[in-house]
Amino acid sequence: MTNMKSTFELDEEARRILIANDRGGYTVPTDGLYPYQWNWDSAFAAFGFASFDIDRAWLEFEWLFKGQWSNGMVPHILFHQVDPGYFPGPEIWGCGGQVPSSGISQPPVAASFMRKVFESDPVAGRRHLEVLFPRLMAWHGWFMDWRLDRGAVCVTHPWEAGRDNALDWDAAMAAMDPAGVGEYTRRDTSHVDASMRPTKYDYDRYIWLVQNGRRANWDEAEMLKTNPFRVADPTLTFTLLRANRDLKAMGRAIGADTARIDEWIGTLEEGAKTLWNPQIGAYDARDVHSGAFAGSLSNASFLCWFAGVDGEAMHPHLTRMLRDVPFAIPSLDPENPAFDSRRYWRGPTWAIMNALIGFGLEDAGLTEEADLLRQKTAALIAEHGFAEYFDPFDGTPAGGGSFTWTAAVWLGWASASAAPGVAGTGRRVAN
Ligand code: SER
Repeated sequence: MTNMKSTFELDEEARRILIANDRGGYTVPTDGLYPYQWNWDSAFAAFGFASFDIDRAWLEFEWLFKGQWSNGMVPHILFHQVDPGYFPGPEIWGCGGQVPSSGISQPPVAASFMRKVFESDPVAGRRHLEVLFPRLMAWHGWFMDWRLDRGAVCVTHPWEAGRDNALDWDAAMAAMDPAGVGEYTRRDTSHVDASMRPTKYDYDRYIWLVQNGRRANWDEAEMLKTNPFRVADPTLTFTLLRANRDLKAMGRAIGADTARIDEWIGTLEEGAKTLWNPQIGAYDARDVHSGAFAGSLSNASFLCWFAGVDGEAMHPHLTRMLRDVPFAIPSLDPENPAFDSRRYWRGPTWAIMNALIGFGLEDAGLTEEADLLRQKTAALIAEHGFAEYFDPFDGTPAGGGSFTWTAAVWLGWASASAAPGVAGTGRRVAN
């Protein structure tokens, strides 16, 4: 063991990270590498703040929804204050809107964390929820209107899944021709070792897709015609399905009409089935243009329990990961030849994904597995710090340090001090 800090010291450190990354209303994922408000990062930030400052948790959500577009979309990055340390910035995205932003969204986990924050103090939370409930309806409705394929939710850019360089996108990326992307200067590799980040091959395609969206004026109908990248994704499908269940529970609590949400849940439950790849016996990404599965058993595959869909056939994979990988769950199956233990989403373990998977396991009654995953995550953070992600075999911290969502997951879930009522540990979520 390299670190003998007590739970108390680690809790203190996690709170210090959240406070240091607070920019007064929104929280940056980490100083330097990610200097703006990121969508799903900020939902985790709210979850972390809720363990010691509920008002600050609600403020995080309110700032996220300041950036909502008139069509309901909530962007993946809000550029509240320009910072030249990040590329591509607002001038590359070229988006309108009240807050300068990117033109794509991100996994909609906000409703799920908002429910946790709300239920920890429903009386104080009601006035916030009454404002934010229709905003969430509009965002979820945007996904349902524009991003479905056979009921599964599609990404139009790898960044939209949050899992930038996952194996899931390889075939769709290979089918693209990024000709004309031009010269640009990456900033990520000036903050983090290049071996832990996506390659130039990936970045050319990421930037080309941004340029293509801009050419389409970020119009969804136009992008549907021109975007060569459209992949039905387990991250978006499972998080939206779960988010709709949580949205419905919140809607009922404030007496709102939830009939539309029931329809969405039914559609997504059918869509989740279309992500089952019998060849690998796992939930997988499916390229809409070619119809082919990616052949990727990733940490997103294990979000089936979080979504409340059938996970029985995934259980042997879970048992293998928990048994064979010291710091499970890796972002790609180590048995896959493409596994790369420190390269972002091609192998490393992410505490945030473990938390989502852990919530799902608890809800499904798989408490032993949930406890083991939580203990592994706690050991990883206690021994190796609040890094962005970690080598699943030796725990080496990778990517950015002093990371908001890792600190938040510690406070809300992994720490022995995480309170069941506030943080969701041990709490079941009904549909
Ligand atoms: N994750 C992307 C980046 O690294 C953007 O969301 O910049």
